[in-house]
Amino acid sequence: MTSRPALSSRAANIPPFHVMELLARAHALQSAGHDIIHMEVGEPDFPTPPPIIAAAQRFLAGGDVRYTQATGLPELRDAIFRFYRTRMNANVPPHRIIITAGASAALLLAIAALTDPGDEWLLTDPGYPCNRQFIQACNGVPRALQVEAGTNYQPEASQIRQAWSEHSKGLLVASPANPTGALISAPEVEMMNGLMQELGGTLIVDEIYQGLVYDTKASSVLAQHDNVFVVNSFSKYFGMTGWRLGWLVVPEGYERHVEKLAQHLYIAASTPAQHAALAAFTPECIGLLEERRALFARRRDLLVRELPGLGFRIHRQPEGAFYIYANTSELTSNSQDLALRLLEKGFVAATPGADFGDWKSDQHLRLAYTTSEERLMEALTRIRSCL
Ligand SMILES: Cc1ncc(COP(=O)(O)O)c(C=O)c1O
Repeated sequence: MTSRPALSSRAANIPPFHVMELLARAHALQSAGHDIIHMEVGEPDFPTPPPIIAAAQRFLAGGDVRYTQATGLPELRDAIFRFYRTRMNANVPPHRIIITAGASAALLLAIAALTDPGDEWLLTDPGYPCNRQFIQACNGVPRALQVEAGTNYQPEASQIRQAWSEHSKGLLVASPANPTGALISAPEVEMMNGLMQELGGTLIVDEIYQGLVYDTKASSVLAQHDNVFVVNSFSKYFGMTGWRLGWLVVPEGYERHVEKLAQHLYIAASTPAQHAALAAFTPECIGLLEERRALFARRRDLLVRELPGLGFRIHRQPEGAFYIYANTSELTSNSQDLALRLLEKGFVAATPGADFGDWKSDQHLRLAYTTSEERLMEALTRIRSCL
């Protein structure tokens, strides 16, 4: 008899993505001929902008596809530097910008650079589920801070102080956030960063949905703070999820350490993707992305207007990203059951709150408006008939 390799406790204990189980069922229904409206998907429905595709094709036609430096193409780091300067009024020198394989690798690099075994990171619940896994992969410990609509889904100073211990390493937040679409205001960042300074911790801000904001101009914490680690990506605003490209901005002095980690962990981000992304900042591309942003805003307004009539409560207007984190407690005591019912009876897929943490997760569904207004209207009709 051959013995089977023993799984690590890290792999054995990792929780499943509930939405993946739902998705498997959605695909089965789709194969059986049903028309599923996908509101569970966390990626834009638009194709990659044509100028980006054209830049990739030009580069690939040359055939010289090799590794770049671990920190990324110098031209791309320069382009991001100019993007921050002209659009965010932030001065971020290119040597502090490290190109990564998506925000995922940026988060992993930042956490790996800062975490020793047993170090604790404070995270919001609800929040992006992979952060817990990145921390645990570095032998750190995630600590959840339960956040509510009443505090803009952000942790309060008293909560941070209370959760802080001698093992605490820092605070990881996102703006706009997944799943709530909440933006961190300038005074809130000031409070968080001030507290980190006082307590001897580090602030990491995930700005992956930067650009997808609907009531204000896009901004970055880097305009005010240069001691914060900032994560970003080409996935969401730039519509490049499958290209796997993002970046990490590090405070002065950390670049060499993060570079060494990147060299060893994945050598460099995809070279064709980096050449393609050079076209992402052209006026033609930004013009197209701004048109898409306007469409997202209309979709958000449509759902915020219509969902309350169906019994979903939206306790805080989402200001960014492409999600509505709707309270379902008037409809059900178990949002996972509701998600299943919407799928089985209405052929509408949505993500149950359980994917984003434990805090009141059975009272929430995340609805992504990554589909057209016509499809959203159809989804609303179907949801109404299921309830
Ligand atoms: C808040 C947040 N951070 C990071 C990521 C990872 O994105 P990517 O690796 O595609 O850039 C996601 C993806 O949905 C996200 O929602």
